[in-house]
Amino acid sequence: NVIYMAGLSGVQPTWPVDYATLKARAERAMPPGVLGYVQGGCGDEFTQDENARAFNHWGMVPRMMVDCARRDLSTHAFGMDLGSPLFMAPIGVTGMCTQDGHGDLAAAQASAATGVPLTASTLANDRLEEVHATCGTTPALFQLYTPRDPEVAASLVSRAEAAGYKAIVVTLDTWVTGWRPRDLNVANFPQLRGHVLHNYFTDPAFRSRLAAPPEEDPRTAVGAWAAMFGKVLTWDDMAWLRSLTTLPIVLKGICHPDDARRAIDAGADGIYVSNHGGRQANGGLAAIDMLPGVAAAVDGRVPVLFDSGVRSGSDVIKAVALGADLVGVGRPYSYGLALGGADGCAHVLRCLLAEADLLMAVNGWPTLAAVRAAGAVRGDRIS
Ligand code: FNR
Repeated sequence: NVIYMAGLSGVQPTWPVDYATLKARAERAMPPGVLGYVQGGCGDEFTQDENARAFNHWGMVPRMMVDCARRDLSTHAFGMDLGSPLFMAPIGVTGMCTQDGHGDLAAAQASAATGVPLTASTLANDRLEEVHATCGTTPALFQLYTPRDPEVAASLVSRAEAAGYKAIVVTLDTWVTGWRPRDLNVANFPQLRGHVLHNYFTDPAFRSRLAAPPEEDPRTAVGAWAAMFGKVLTWDDMAWLRSLTTLPIVLKGICHPDDARRAIDAGADGIYVSNHGGRQANGGLAAIDMLPGVAAAVDGRVPVLFDSGVRSGSDVIKAVALGADLVGVGRPYSYGLALGGADGCAHVLRCLLAEADLLMAVNGWPTLAAVRAAGAVRGDRIS
């Protein structure tokens, strides 16, 4: 109602409140190379598009005469008391999205302002310690792209633990980069060049591998980073990962129920359903269609995280209804960063939260438990 009253008195929101307009504005604001990197997906981007489209197949049925004057979106995972299930998925080289090159710090400021946790990427342009400090009292997660050099991996994880991150999210699907035509257009890369991967370049174990410090010889340092980028992880590596930290370990990229069961048997503390926003493999099912099977296999034993295709508050609620405990958003917050830095990012998060909250109000669900109990159904099976 505050928004309607403001609109009646002629006040315009600074940034769009709907995803389509936000995306269109961001497309005009971002240089082509940056846009190609952020927006691009694998192959002809069928899976990427399907991720968002498939939410439309799932519907929710409202209930009436329920007191929803107050809604409680709060939840709890990995020792974090959260105001809502929404979180920011890890996005590497986010520095490209903001004018000053500090996209990670801007996302961290948005996290501090909204209480929506950030997952800091290994490939951040800002140091993980600084990113965590900027999140203020909002807890944060650290995402690990596991380097082939085990000492560098151990160093990154122990720095994240020392900095105060609440869990280590190990991304499983990106030991090699997928076939991304928009990135393969080399014209995109001038934008990437200026953005230093500070988590590596400041890392003592990584620096010890170099003949000269990265400040003196950045080309060789980038080469060393690229050579150690992607360790091929197998189930045999779980014990080693476990030995690196006492923090909860979340496995990102799990889509098959059998993998979810195996991950829990191997000691995973969280299962993160994601197809990387369609950036890694084309031709796969939409991520939201794989969530119910994985959630059933997990059966409440550990938190289930989800991302890929979330574009609205109703998508957030549908993901909860289909079994997610925490729901991640990726590209939309990059567009917020590109349009308005920390404030633009916070705006995008607040719109998602407000729509989710209103949906719960009008559908008769005062809590996330009520959302889960209501569930979501395929459009042709409502009875
Ligand atoms: C990503 N993603 C990603 N994932 C990860 O584990 N580490 C990373 O560094 C990155 N980097 C990254 C960069 C960009 C530009 C994008 C768009 C995505 C994947 C990300 O965490 C998430 O899985 C998807 O973005 C979710 O899909 P949507 O919301 O973008 O559709």
